Amino acid sequence: MSQIIDALKQRRSIRKYQPRSVPKETLRQILETASYAPSAHNAQPWRFIVLTEAEDKTVLADAMAQVWLVELEKDGSPKKMRWATVNRSIDRFTSAPVLLLACMSMENMDVYSDEKRQRAEHDLAVQSLAAATQNLLLAAHANGLGACWYCAPIFCQDAVRQALGIPDNVEPQALLTLGYPAETPKTPKRLAFENFVFYGKMGLGSGSLSCKKMGLRSGSGYFLFSL
Ligand SMILES: Cc1cc2nc3c(=O)[nH]c(=O)nc-3n(C[C@H](O)[C@H](O)[C@H](O)COP(=O)(O)O)c2cc1C
Repeated sequence: MSQIIDALKQRRSIRKYQPRSVPKETLRQILETASYAPSAHNAQPWRFIVLTEAEDKTVLADAMAQVWLVELEKDGSPKKMRWATVNRSIDRFTSAPVLLLACMSMENMDVYSDEKRQRAEHDLAVQSLAAATQNLLLAAHANGLGACWYCAPIFCQDAVRQALGIPDNVEPQALLTLGYPAETPKTPKRLAFENFVFYGKMGLGSGSLSCKKMGLRSGSGYFLFSL
């Protein structure tokens, strides 16, 4: 059990990789592990597109970069900076040994006639895909691999669809880079426990209100109480 907890805490986002490739069998095992995530209605709305060929990675990275360039221009970013930014992004994606495009399909999800419930159903699919994606990151970590979750595709879904021949009813949601780590990042700071856990009722801006309600004091002593 403690091994699982350790793995959960020790996984880091890895953005630099060794050039060596990932064995096909390992990649398959990682993707299979992703599919053991929970999903609403067990609909398993995740779909993953695997890119290992340099040309395929470049096609995707370029397509996303084109959209980003336009948006940076709209934001008023100077031309030189726009190019420096997107070139960094292209380099990051094309230098990773494996790219995994995490997509979502609504085909096995429920259909509602009203927008409100349909949006909720869509969110259930997003949440399910996120659970599978987290499984994937952890399975990579368990295999001595590193990975990073990138949000880029969600900002340019149509360009990504066009680049990789993805049908309209499948939504590109995230891009994962994968490979053997070439860096050991420090753990980014986490929120203090009392700032994200609330007992009974949500406090005003922090957990202190609910701490008081529970007869607990916020601060280090708070950690003595289990959920
Ligand atoms: C939905 C989501 C989107 C993310 N998008 C990016 C991204 O576009 N670029 C990036 O460098 N990291 C991205 N990350 C990684 C986070 O920056 C990282 O998880 C966070 O800083 C905590 O670091 P850790 O994963 O090492 O614990 C994303 C993570 C998530 C869950």
